[in-house]
Amino acid sequence: MTTELLRVDPVHPDSDAMARAAACLRRGGLVAFPTETVYGLGVHALDRAAVARLFEAKQRPAHDPLIVHVAGLEGAADLVESIPAAARALADRFWPGPLTFVLRRSQRVPDEVTAGLDTVAVRVPAHPVARALIEAAGLPVAAPSANLFSRPSPTTAAHVLADLDGRIEMILDGGPTPVGVESTVIDLSETRPVILRPGAIGADAIRHALVGLGLDESGPENAASRPRSPGLLSKHYAPRAAVTVYEGSRSRTLLAMRAEAETQLGLGRRVAVLAYTEDHASFVDLPVLTLDLGAETDPPAIARALYAVLRQCDEAGADVALARMPATRHELTPAIADRLRRAAARLVAVTS
Ligand code: TXA
Ligand code: MG
Repeated sequence: MTTELLRVDPVHPDSDAMARAAACLRRGGLVAFPTETVYGLGVHALDRAAVARLFEAKQRPAHDPLIVHVAGLEGAADLVESIPAAARALADRFWPGPLTFVLRRSQRVPDEVTAGLDTVAVRVPAHPVARALIEAAGLPVAAPSANLFSRPSPTTAAHVLADLDGRIEMILDGGPTPVGVESTVIDLSETRPVILRPGAIGADAIRHALVGLGLDESGPENAASRPRSPGLLSKHYAPRAAVTVYEGSRSRTLLAMRAEAETQLGLGRRVAVLAYTEDHASFVDLPVLTLDLGAETDPPAIARALYAVLRQCDEAGADVALARMPATRHELTPAIADRLRRAAARLVAVTS
C-alpha cells in the first residue's frame, strides 16, 4: 500500500482534500490527521473490519480500547447509554477540546472499539482539520494516537510517516500539533468521576467545572470497582534507548545525571541528555547529545517538544537517555511527568 501525504492548512483546511479523506474513511480506509493534542489514526468507528485493520496497522493489542471522535455532544449521544450531568458540565466547559469522557456504551458501538468493555471513550477535538474531517465524513471516527504501539505519540506528520508508511491510506499533514501531549481521560461511567489519564486539561480546571458533582481524587488505581484504563500500560511512549528519569532537587538530579553520563560514556555507550534549556550548560563539557526539552519554566513548550525529543534519541542512535522530572507546578506538569515515567526504563529518586 502507498501512503498518500496530503498537506492541509491547519486553520482553513481545503474542502477538496477533506472530502477525499472523508471518502477514504467511509470506504473503511485509515487516515491519520492532526488533533490539538497529537496526530490520530482515524477509522470509521462503526466498521468492524476497518477497526480490525487499524489494530493491525498499529500493532496495537486488541485489549486496548479506542477513543471515538465526534462533532459534538449530540454526536456522542448515539454511542452512549445516557449523558450524565457531569458529562454535560464538562462538555460545556471543555468541548471542543482535549478532554475524553468514558461513558457507558450503547449497542451501536462495536466490541472491537471498546475492547469488549461496557464503556466507550468519546471526545470532541478542537483542531480545525479534525473537526472538518469528522463533519465531512459524517461518521464517528475512532482514533488512537497514530504511532506504532509503544512508540512515542506523533506530533508531526513526519512522525506518523516514520511509523506507519505503507501501512495506512492517507496522512493529512496540518503541521505540528499545538499541545503535544494527549487528552485527559476521565471516567464518568460511575457515580464519582475519576481521571484515568492525566493530559492536556489539568485536574484543577476539571474540579472547578465539576463543582457540586465531585471528583474522586483517590486515583484510578484506588477507585473501587473500576477496571484500570487498559491502555495505561506502564511501559509506553518509549524510545528504543533506555531512558533513566531522575526525581529530586535540580542541583542533585543534575549531579546524578552527570555522574551517570560519565559512567555510560566510560562503557562506550552513546548518551543523550533530554535537557531543559536552563540545564544545557551542565553538560557542555561532556561528549553527550544534548536535546532541548524547552525551558523548565515553560511547561507548554516542554509538552510540545517531549515526543519529538524522545524520537530524536532513536534517530541519533542513543543507547541511553537521561532526563529529570520538571519541578514547576502547572496544569501540564502531571501529564509531562506521567509520560516521562512511562518512557522510562528506570526511575531514580535522588535524595542525598
Ligand atoms: O489526545 C488524545 O486522546 C489522542 C488524540 C488522537 O485524540 N488519542 C489518544 O488515543 O491518545 P490512544 O488510543 O492513544 O489512548 C486512548 C486511551 C488509552 O489509554 C485507552 O486505554 C483509554 O484511552 N481508553 C479508551 N477507551 C476506554 C474505556 N472505555 N475505558 C477506559 N479507558 C479507555
Ligand atoms: Mg496512544
